[in-house]
Amino acid sequence: MRPAELAARIERSQSEILVAFDLAAKPIGFAAGASVYTPFHSMATFELWALFVESSSRRQGIGTKLLQEVRELARSLSCYDIRVSAIPEVAIENFYAAAGYRLYASRLRYTFI
Ligand SMILES: CC(C)(COP(=O)(O)OP(=O)(O)OC[C@H]1O[C@@H](n2cnc3c(N)ncnc32)[C@H](O)[C@@H]1OP(=O)(O)O)[C@@H](O)C(=O)NCCC(=O)NCCS
Repeated sequence: MRPAELAARIERSQSEILVAFDLAAKPIGFAAGASVYTPFHSMATFELWALFVESSSRRQGIGTKLLQEVRELARSLSCYDIRVSAIPEVAIENFYAAAGYRLYASRLRYTFI
């Protein structure tokens, strides 16, 4: 998503962005996503689009803290679960597994290019 597009979504309250700051108030990580209503379950799910921690700040629990905040946010939005589309890399799978996430389905995709 382009920055202007994302800014417009934030303006319209269509996206949730959580930012982690260090003690010097420098941004060192973020999580972005949105609550999406799923007719099949008649409930909302929280789609976590991106979670990033600056490389020099990794393995200090910041990603885990961001995920905890995402969980609180999703709960406050009455979502019944949180879903992540992640690249199948060992590091990423380990990170989400350590936070209690489990693989639950394969996804099908149709691309236009
Ligand atoms: C994945 C990412 C968000 C993790 O952030 P982080 O702040 O380093 O994570 P944490 O310190 O909270 O790690 C918690 C646990 O996850 C696991 N973990 C995290 N990074 C790992 C790695 N590179 N290799 C193996 N396990 C890892 C470990 O179990 C870790 O606990 P430990 O440090 O006590 O062993 C960060 O590496 C990142 O931004 N990567 C690039 C972007 C990305 O891939 N995002 C995810 C897809 S949306």
